[in-house]
Amino acid sequence: MIPPSCLFGLGLRRPHHAEFLAGRVKVDFVEVISENFMVDGGRPAAVLAGVRRHYPVALHGVSMSLGTATGLNPAYLARLRALADAIDPLFVSDHLAWTGIDGVNSHDLLPLPYSEEALAVVARNIDQAQAALGRPLLIENPSTYLDFHASCMGEGEFLAALVARTGCGLLLDVNNIHVSAHNHGRDPLAELAAIPWPAVRQLHLAGPSRGHDGLLIDTHDSPVPAPVWALYGEVRRRAGPVAVMIERDDDIPPLTDLLDELALARAPLAAA
Ligand SMILES: [Fe+2]
Repeated sequence: MIPPSCLFGLGLRRPHHAEFLAGRVKVDFVEVISENFMVDGGRPAAVLAGVRRHYPVALHGVSMSLGTATGLNPAYLARLRALADAIDPLFVSDHLAWTGIDGVNSHDLLPLPYSEEALAVVARNIDQAQAALGRPLLIENPSTYLDFHASCMGEGEFLAALVARTGCGLLLDVNNIHVSAHNHGRDPLAELAAIPWPAVRQLHLAGPSRGHDGLLIDTHDSPVPAPVWALYGEVRRRAGPVAVMIERDDDIPPLTDLLDELALARAPLAAA
């Protein structure tokens, strides 16, 4: 579904469950981690059903492993399909990454080369996912810490080719663009040039941390920093109506802090 105008949301995190279940949070949508709710019944299903009564819900996955060369796990896709059918999600998204091998999940979003061979693998996997889910998938650009000699195109070109081949949409993580550009010594604005903007449906905003060696690490444990806000302004100028959210996964602050950040994201573009 394409929102007619920008939507502004937050991720559902455990310390804030009660506020969302009461419908007291002034957001347009809520994003949940799909895997946390791909279970039969119990507390997770009750929480999700309760939240869904008040808000549209976006499903964001972390272990589809779209870069896996041997195809996606049909059992995983079936569970995700059942979840999506139950809540009629705003979007279903996952990452341009691989997360495991031989049935072992690393719980890390591992990078892949931007090569023709990898493009064919990921496109085939997206086709499999979209057929199994019965809906389009949004693909999120990753934070990366290394380049591959095998890469023969930029990330934006790779994403554009995936969109052209599969009809998928994009979830553009503005923090990830900032992190990857910093780590590879590239200009983040130049990274925007190849993005297929009509395919962008959702944006993530987050804060990284600085590791040793000066690398930026995609930790989502701090407020959105100034360079990400600046890049967000540029992204919003290029994107059409999108769903924007603050993605906070660690050191979860009070909900009021996140709503204050979201208010900055809502501000007119001149202010952003
Ligand atoms: Fe993200």
